[in-house]
Amino acid sequence: MLIETNNEEKPAVSAKANTVVPKPQAKKRVFSGVQPTGNIHLGNYLGAIRNWVNAQAEFDNIFCIVDLHAITLPIDPKELHTNTRKLAALYLACGLDTHYCKLFVQSHVHQHAEMSWILNCFTPMGWLNRMTQFKSKAESDLDSVDTGLYCYPVLMACDILLYQTHYVPVGDDQRQHLELTRDIAQRFNSTYKQNVFTIPEAQIREMGARIMSLDDPTKKMSKSESNPNSRISLLDDPKTIKQKVARATTDSQRLIAFDPERPGITNLLTIYQTLTRQSQQEIEQEFAGKGYGDFKAALTERLVEALTPIQQRYNELISDLPTLESILKQGADEVRPIAEATLQQVKQVIGLLQYPQNGS
Ligand code: TYM
Repeated sequence: MLIETNNEEKPAVSAKANTVVPKPQAKKRVFSGVQPTGNIHLGNYLGAIRNWVNAQAEFDNIFCIVDLHAITLPIDPKELHTNTRKLAALYLACGLDTHYCKLFVQSHVHQHAEMSWILNCFTPMGWLNRMTQFKSKAESDLDSVDTGLYCYPVLMACDILLYQTHYVPVGDDQRQHLELTRDIAQRFNSTYKQNVFTIPEAQIREMGARIMSLDDPTKKMSKSESNPNSRISLLDDPKTIKQKVARATTDSQRLIAFDPERPGITNLLTIYQTLTRQSQQEIEQEFAGKGYGDFKAALTERLVEALTPIQQRYNELISDLPTLESILKQGADEVRPIAEATLQQVKQVIGLLQYPQNGS
């Protein structure tokens, strides 16, 4: 039986005609998260957060600040604490509304860590060995990275599965982790011949799913890249944005056109397209006969236009930490019972709790 975590109402019977009034369709559940590991950048915004904001009224949303994932690589404790609050303020500043979304910090809901141990025991090492993100983060130092980094995708699966999630809106780099989550859920369900977990689907939008680095457009834009000029941070001021766009790698050709063989200009055009929602043809026409200077000036303008209101809201929110803390506490209090219900069911089917007797 599927666990239905939405409080669905029973169909109401109209007294007058004794007809059944159709029950309101329960909203599908969305879950996603970001690591509080540094400068939240344009890739995080266009690939994930902006899509959450745009679709929030359609779904029953849970958005998490995944601080347990952030400790899989060395991080300064003060920085982790501050980044967590900053990310909460950014979620709200980008437009997430607590009327539609529950926002919480992963470590405030202990069920994530507990479920993670259980699902580690149901995940073959061969599956984790195939995860490309682990290999790239571990670099060549496989013997000395901590086990947490290796088991990272299992914790991510727990985040999603604890809430009986239908959709997971993420950027393209999370595709493989989502496949793994589905595999773990299907394997568990079929082992116990019960639909304990809802099988989630990745929601990866075509536009903005893979924003590339400004200095090396063959790599994705990343929080951990040492060169700050490789990314536009959501909190960059207009002058910094202008400088970073001006320095962004292009090529020696003059034509402003989308072309996979020219990753630099194509990445900048993709950012422009994601911000303006124009078609590729419209953009190419707009800049026909113009140079990189004109295009980069227009891109800077669009970026400043998009980020300035976010920064203004962010500055207000971050100056009121007690309100932020109370939003996060309320979010954790609201999601904990959902996570606990799934954890209890898992514990029951694997035999950690009293096993239901025949007929009882
Ligand atoms: P993280 O913190 O690396 O990134 C957060 C979100 O931003 C997207 N993203 C990008 N999108 C487009 N272009 C880019 N250059 C770019 N860089 C990052 C990511 O795809 C992601 O959607 N493992 C996750 C966090 C996580 C999670 C979860 C996500 C933990 N548990 C459960 C969804 C559901 C991560 O490290 O994201």
